[in-house]
Amino acid sequence: MPAITCKAPGKIILFGEHAVVYGRPAIAVPISQVQARAIVTANPSKESGEVEIQAPNIGLQARLKELPPDHPIAVIIEQVASALQISRLPSFTLRITATIPVSAGLGSGAAVSVATIRALSAFLGHLLPDEQVSELAYEVEKLHHGTPSGIDNTVITYAMPVYYAHRSGNGNIIEPFQVARPFTLVIGDTGVPSPTASSVGLVRQAWQAEKERFEHIFDEIGNIAQTARQVIEAGRSEALGPLMDENQALLHEMGVSSPELEALIQAARSAGAQGAKLSGGGRGGNMIALVTPESADSIAQSLRKAGATRIITTTVE
Ligand code: PMV
Repeated sequence: MPAITCKAPGKIILFGEHAVVYGRPAIAVPISQVQARAIVTANPSKESGEVEIQAPNIGLQARLKELPPDHPIAVIIEQVASALQISRLPSFTLRITATIPVSAGLGSGAAVSVATIRALSAFLGHLLPDEQVSELAYEVEKLHHGTPSGIDNTVITYAMPVYYAHRSGNGNIIEPFQVARPFTLVIGDTGVPSPTASSVGLVRQAWQAEKERFEHIFDEIGNIAQTARQVIEAGRSEALGPLMDENQALLHEMGVSSPELEALIQAARSAGAQGAKLSGGGRGGNMIALVTPESADSIAQSLRKAGATRIITTTVE
């Protein structure tokens, strides 16, 4: 049996991070320059049930039975087997590699899940449909995030810009949409690792202490996300810059920015970016700046000078 390979892109959140955990809409887009890849190869010479895991990026080389049952990779395999009602797995090797940096707001966890769920389900004879891939990846996201909104698994599964709102008990709003006119973003990494679960936890504590203030901030962010979608669908992407700046001011008020993020955001604006904000959980990780294709290189250089450890220039289309 030939090896089965599946890939999944990274993602960034354009608008609405954190507020999306509280039911407001957010917009996320796939980033295909970085990706996760899962390869499943049969091991016919080994006994059935012998599963070998190789994930060199995280220094993991182990047999499935050696992993703790709540290890994300063990959970993904278990979820796929149970979705396909397979009680005894054949023998195979699962190799996972990724160019998506971890804990940087680029969706590495969800991309690994989506690529693995697709490769494994195809290997087992039933490639799962997108909706189910996203649902299973969401279960794994819970291990990474605590209380994830579900936006990462959604945008990465559909690999299209997505307008997303989490509605508990009510069915989530998931609306992939078209970009009328492409626009360019420079993504700058602070190099400060920042696990999403801890920034989500901090926001929850702050929300519990000051519900009214935070609900108001979330409403404003939700309105920005809604306007941004209209602007993107109308091809008026130059109007996104001021919306990014407004969203950033609100994220700063929420306490999820950081000196490193502020330094990069300021550097991008001074170098001529049309707008800039943090992206994802914040307190580290990445920022994004809206640029013109002509100014992208010089803004990227300014970000490097201001301390960015990695730069990705991407066109959203
Ligand atoms: O980009 P990430 O993976 O750091 O996502 C964080 C987005 C949050 O809104 C902060 C959390 C969530 O689950 O949506």
